[in-house]
Amino acid sequence: MDQNEKKKAVAQAALQYVQYDTVVGVGTGSTVNYFIDELASIKDKITGAVSSSQASTERLEAAGIEVFELNNVDSLGIYVDGADEVTEHKHMIKGGGAALTREKIVAAVAETFVCIVDDSKQVPILGNFPLPVEVIPMARSYVARELVKLGGDPVYRQGVVTDNGNVILDVHNLEILNPRELEAKINNIVGVVTNGIFAMRGADVVLSATQQGVKTFK
Ligand code: A5P
Repeated sequence: MDQNEKKKAVAQAALQYVQYDTVVGVGTGSTVNYFIDELASIKDKITGAVSSSQASTERLEAAGIEVFELNNVDSLGIYVDGADEVTEHKHMIKGGGAALTREKIVAAVAETFVCIVDDSKQVPILGNFPLPVEVIPMARSYVARELVKLGGDPVYRQGVVTDNGNVILDVHNLEILNPRELEAKINNIVGVVTNGIFAMRGADVVLSATQQGVKTFK
């Protein structure tokens, strides 16, 4: 299986977590795009979706799936999303696609977070993938200096504006030994909207596509 076949396989496997006649939380990225394609095959059996990005909203609507505002939905059974890195503790780095804040909000609302990855995303320790941090534009330099104090090397993601009108700093060279602590610490820097560590609310289930098939971690 090449990487795209793995993404498709894991997206197919995630369908088993979708309950009929409910609204499904949908993340962002190339793996989730395969999941949206799968969701389209059962679109008459679900109520619709809540989306974590403009890009996913467009893909969902093009597939004929109604997209609801999160504020208009009472509850969300599942949220299905990819990750840039995931550990055996089901902690993740997300935000490679710059959608981290909306992803974290939808994930917070969902009862069950199903993370779908191929096995290249599985890591023993988070931090090899540069940590995305969404920042209010006027705070960019201040936040960058504070991130240096935490031992990271922040790089401004040139030309990227998030769906919320903010900018992204990608923090290199962090070895994230205590993800919950660092997640809270970075979120406490004034001007940070959120950061891409998903540890305080990690995944409940990780589906990982390997050469031997899709493996489930709970
Ligand atoms: C989007 O902001 C990210 O959090 C994605 O979930 C992550 O980058 C995974 O994307 P791929 O499935 O494209 O690797």
